[in-house]
Amino acid sequence: MGFKITKNNKTRYESIDWNNLRFGVYFSDHIFISKYKDGKWDGGEIIPYGEMPMEPGLCTLHYGQTIFEGLKAFRRVDGNGANLFRADKNAQRLNRSASLVCIPEYDVPTLLDGMKELVKLDNKFIPKQKGQSLYLRPVVFGSGNFLGVTASQEYMLIVMTSPVASYYAAGLNPVKIMVSDDHVRAVKGGLGAAKTAANYAASLYAGMDAHKKGFSQVLWLDGVNRKDIDEVGAMNIMFLIDGELITPSLDKGTVLAGVTRDTVLTLAREWGMKVTERNISIDEVMDAYKAGKLQEAFGTGTAAVISPVGQLTYKGTDMIINDMKIGPVSQKFYDTITGIQYGEIEDKHNWNIHVTF
Ligand SMILES: Cc1ncc(COP(=O)(O)O)c(C=O)c1O
Repeated sequence: MGFKITKNNKTRYESIDWNNLRFGVYFSDHIFISKYKDGKWDGGEIIPYGEMPMEPGLCTLHYGQTIFEGLKAFRRVDGNGANLFRADKNAQRLNRSASLVCIPEYDVPTLLDGMKELVKLDNKFIPKQKGQSLYLRPVVFGSGNFLGVTASQEYMLIVMTSPVASYYAAGLNPVKIMVSDDHVRAVKGGLGAAKTAANYAASLYAGMDAHKKGFSQVLWLDGVNRKDIDEVGAMNIMFLIDGELITPSLDKGTVLAGVTRDTVLTLAREWGMKVTERNISIDEVMDAYKAGKLQEAFGTGTAAVISPVGQLTYKGTDMIINDMKIGPVSQKFYDTITGIQYGEIEDKHNWNIHVTF
């Protein structure tokens, strides 16, 4: 640690509507910032959150050489500081995304120290209510000013934090999902495994279309045959079919390696469940549904933890899963993971990074 800290002389705390936090609307007082120049990253420092000067030639605006992460700090229920959940996994994934878009890697221990220091400094922004949390958003982008299509020589890493509401205002609500066979978000050999802006830009149109039709998210199929399942919205997807937990494997490079996905798979194996990471097609899911074997389906991600799928619609067929109700397996994952995050359940895997203040 030991970063230079320049404090904000006017807190943003009072401008926050704590009764209506929503997601990513409010920002805390400080950011961690680090710059890359002449072939190396500086050591990083903490400065006030605020406007940044920018030139119209900023390369990232034109070609999207940018990556990001999303993770959370939870105020412990025993009042003893906060838990930064699996931040090491996010830091490692940031570097995997970096390599796919030619961004220089960042030192993992420095990033972890920067995030810990930030959470400590802005700890009053960690919401007190269970379900709410402080979201951390690291972002790295080319900061050079030029118009040639080439990797930048200069970069900036910024970590901002944002107090966010519970994803579920009233219990875990199963959602309606539209299987997209018109639009795809990623193809083999592309950027699907990276948390980079292009994938999210690619998802907007289909997402908007799904909303218009009354669905909350899109289920993405593979970009070539539009048969194999990739992800759901900005989450990984899991199916419980005939007692077996099945999720698309990561080897195709079209799926983001979710931290929550890994958490769920680790717990499921520990609980003795049959767990399989493999290719699974939408036809297989339809067949399982028709045979009465599709017990549960749910998305996994930092934002919602577990997002049960109540309805999956494909080519005009509505598959209603578990009577549109949350299933016992989804509920158990949700309760266990949130229990660990808030320090109510023993953290056997050392997933939490304890920040005291
Ligand atoms: C495309 C995509 N897939 C999956 C996930 C879930 O990943 P995680 O569990 O690490 O939040 C996310 C969210 O980060 C995402 O953006």
